Amino acid sequence: MNTTPAPGYAFAELGELVQDHAASRSAAYDPFTVERLAATGVGAGWSCLEVGAGEGEIAHWLVRRVAPGGRVLAVDLAPERVPAAAGLRIERHDIGHDPLPTAEFDLIHARLVLQHVPERQAALDRLRTALRPGGWIQIDEFDVSYGPVLMAPSAEAARLYETFLAAKNRALAATGARPTWGREVAADLAAAGFEAVDPQPRIVLWQAGHPGLELLVSHTRTLRDRLLEQGMTDSQLEQVRAVMRHPGFRAASCVRYCVQARRP
Ligand SMILES: C[S@@+](CC[C@H](N)C(=O)[O-])C[C@H]1O[C@@H](n2cnc3c(N)ncnc32)[C@H](O)[C@@H]1O
Repeated sequence: MNTTPAPGYAFAELGELVQDHAASRSAAYDPFTVERLAATGVGAGWSCLEVGAGEGEIAHWLVRRVAPGGRVLAVDLAPERVPAAAGLRIERHDIGHDPLPTAEFDLIHARLVLQHVPERQAALDRLRTALRPGGWIQIDEFDVSYGPVLMAPSAEAARLYETFLAAKNRALAATGARPTWGREVAADLAAAGFEAVDPQPRIVLWQAGHPGLELLVSHTRTLRDRLLEQGMTDSQLEQVRAVMRHPGFRAASCVRYCVQARRP
């Protein structure tokens, strides 16, 4: 049955698919995220904020990293999904609206969160003042406007994949999200008064079984109602799942930006 999707965070009602989503996201994106976080020097005694912590993988990495003596605050609209750990405080918090402490953190990280928050520029201002002078922010975000098919079992299969990506991007934009925000993060951080802004882009090859592509497979189910609203059919969603799992399919990923900056 087709139901009208609610506005707001597009993935709020993942239900039992939440673990699949989190596992694919973590496998696809954690290595680059933690490589860059480690380069800040984060270590024993640091105070960190993980924004939109999801299932808490990065919050837990930070907790291990800042021991002994450090602490991590993980916030999310749905904080119950973050497992508890010593040194980790977990709070419900809307980063678009709720206040943050002043000059509290040495490091703030947010991955794939602020693109979903229409008030993101105001949030960047609050995140800047939540950092201690010299403190680091790292924002990991996508620009989904790039992601060409490189090889497909047929021209029709390639077109179907492109149709799916376009429908998905429209569906996300309809919720107030900005799925191309990755390309704007660096400029927005500079506009919010951060310094030493350092944007690093990354594109990888997607083929059957790649966790980044599996995340898209899972989106055909989690965003199903929103995709039907954008003109796709259940039959097309089934077909595009088969395309993305075909051994002959290859695509470039979207661009993933990992942007670091510091509070002056
Ligand atoms: C795509 S998930 C990413 C989770 C995690 N950062 C990661 O990369 O694995 C987005 C997360 O942001 C949270 N979120 C969305 N809007 C938010 C808001 N306004 N304030 C706080 N968290 C929010 C969601 O509940 C979800 O856990």
